[in-house]
Amino acid sequence: MKKILMVCLGNICRSPMAEGIVRKEFADNGIDIQIDSAGTAAYHVGEGADNRAQAELRKHGIDISDERAQKFIPTHFQEYDLIFAMDRENYADIIYQAQSDEEIAKVEMLMNMIEPGKNISVPDPYYGGDEGFKEVYRMIKKAAEVLVGRS
Ligand code: 4NP
Repeated sequence: MKKILMVCLGNICRSPMAEGIVRKEFADNGIDIQIDSAGTAAYHVGEGADNRAQAELRKHGIDISDERAQKFIPTHFQEYDLIFAMDRENYADIIYQAQSDEEIAKVEMLMNMIEPGKNISVPDPYYGGDEGFKEVYRMIKKAAEVLVGRS
């Protein structure tokens, strides 16, 4: 069973959304995976996902109310097969903690599922309005469909 980790900065907006969206996409297609999420920063450790993130996903039948933020730590490289970064800064922060080429090879920008090699970031919606969370949903949903299609 494939093990996937979604990573953003705070682990309260984009990566818990990615976790919920991708979990549902795989479940809807009858494929078992293990998925979790983490943040490169510790500001929100132990907190639930942002209310706006929860509200956006609820519209799509996804409940992430059980999510609690955790920090990305280097042992995650051993625990997961694939580590997806939401933006370029997350990617750089993760790679910086890798200790081998094998660990580096597990890390990919999530949006490269849709546009390989372009390194497009999922924009941080934290300081914006609800539209930002809608856009995050739309972007991640497309990536989730590609990911499932390849599995
Ligand atoms: P996330 O969004 O990385 O998508 O979870 C953020 C959440 C919190 C902060 C920044 C981004 N913050 O600065 O507290």
